[in-house]
Amino acid sequence: MVTASRIRALKGRRKISMLTAYDYLVARILEAAAIDMILVGDSLGTTVLGYSTTLPVSMDIMVAHVAAVKRGAPNTMVVADMPFLSYGVSDSESLVNAGRFLKEAGADAVKLEGGKEIAPLVEKMVSLGIPVIGHIGLRPQQVLKAGYQVAGKTDADIEKLSEDAQALENAGVFSLVLEGTTEEAARLITDMLSIPTIGIGAGRYTDGQVLVITDMLGLAPDQSYRHNKVYAHLYDTIFSAVVQYKEEVEKCIFPSEENVFHQK
Ligand code: KIV
Repeated sequence: MVTASRIRALKGRRKISMLTAYDYLVARILEAAAIDMILVGDSLGTTVLGYSTTLPVSMDIMVAHVAAVKRGAPNTMVVADMPFLSYGVSDSESLVNAGRFLKEAGADAVKLEGGKEIAPLVEKMVSLGIPVIGHIGLRPQQVLKAGYQVAGKTDADIEKLSEDAQALENAGVFSLVLEGTTEEAARLITDMLSIPTIGIGAGRYTDGQVLVITDMLGLAPDQSYRHNKVYAHLYDTIFSAVVQYKEEVEKCIFPSEENVFHQK
């Protein structure tokens, strides 16, 4: 079992690798590749369910995907993203929802978007034994309020981010995702905290990096992001395979003798 304290202890020793996964098959590959942490992000709303934002994602959808990922990666830290309004409405509902991820889906930790305003809630979760990762900077669940804006462009903005980061560390998060921040802000916060920061679009100086698996595998080439690096071109690979299959069916090339069963 990979515990929060083992991830936390990696700070300053080596960089931490994290990727999102949404299903059993990909989770198995990430575990085989010894990725440090798997995030079942609510990004699944846009990446695999086709919504235009993450807002419609429900607890039930997340629990099903987290459970599938955990079945594929039983020995890797699996982090469940708490979807929009599954926390923050009331403490009791937030705690029950966080608990569902651990008890029903087998998650090892939960992640919440938010700054110092959610620190008291984080403290309660941690005191009950729920390991928590924070998430500040660009917060996709706030899209209707703020859009998708890079954070940390001014001194005042960096100060606010730093206060949020410190409040979350004090509340007990064992790691902090910094999404869509200037490299300067991420570096300052990383140096300030004693817990590891995990960056996405936050530059080179965070303690670890996370990417969205469908982006880094090139599954949606019509969506390209400056922060991303495309490590494989799976859209093209899958497209060619499907075109070839269609052609072979139409030309009676598939199935061939090796694919058929015969009477005795
Ligand atoms: O939902 C998600 O995939 C995330 C990452 C982008 C950090 O929160």
